[in-house]
Amino acid sequence: MGASQETAVLPITIAPSLLSCDFARIAEEVGRVEASGGDWHHVDVMDGHFVPNLTLGPPIVKRIHAVAQRPLDVHLMIEEPRRYARAFAEAGAYVLTFHAELYANAAELRATIQAFREAGIAAVGVALNPDTPVERVADVLDEVELILVMSVFPGFGGQSFMSEVLPKAAWLREQGFGGHIEMDGGLNRDTLPLCAAAGANVLVAGSALFGAADMKAEIERFRRSARAARGERT
Ligand code: DX5
Ligand code: ZN
Repeated sequence: MGASQETAVLPITIAPSLLSCDFARIAEEVGRVEASGGDWHHVDVMDGHFVPNLTLGPPIVKRIHAVAQRPLDVHLMIEEPRRYARAFAEAGAYVLTFHAELYANAAELRATIQAFREAGIAAVGVALNPDTPVERVADVLDEVELILVMSVFPGFGGQSFMSEVLPKAAWLREQGFGGHIEMDGGLNRDTLPLCAAAGANVLVAGSALFGAADMKAEIERFRRSARAARGERT
């Protein structure tokens, strides 16, 4: 798989988090994200154990997939990701991300990465809580397509960005990691350019986009400021 051999800079990918949508109108919200230029749909799955909140599971992901044109970026905040890998793959997850905190060593991370691949997941991700050292994923960087650097403690939308996690993204790029670096939690007009400057290319935002007066204008603004932050002409 080896994402770290690639040298090309990955395009800025804006991933609105459906956690902040109106769940009573989810198909319309998916359509609104796509009409507004969102690249991926970020879907937060919580089990009430790994995080103190409950959201949704494979049947809802399947229904989202049925109405979505864009890839589903499924962020698992659950205790037994291997057990559900096939169900999420069959439901249509493109990216499937699990949390590193569940495992004590690289061999266990590797077993879950392998289980996701066997389930048919195209892009495997590993997430790091704000207080988990980035070195925990050092030995599997060649085996995943995405590292998710959490910039809040997972569980809820609308929290404040923790800028102390930014060096993790820079460290991953210094190691030569050429896959996606995603940042999630508290991204807004002010904090999103910091993430892009540090090396993140997948930028998740829930409350800042679903709470915007004009989602399309906000996504355009996000994309412009992210590109400018990494020195691209916009
Ligand atoms: C938090 C979730 C996030 C959340 C982000 O546990 O993983 O994806 O939706 O929401 P905002 O952008 O409002 O911080
Ligand atoms: Zn998330």
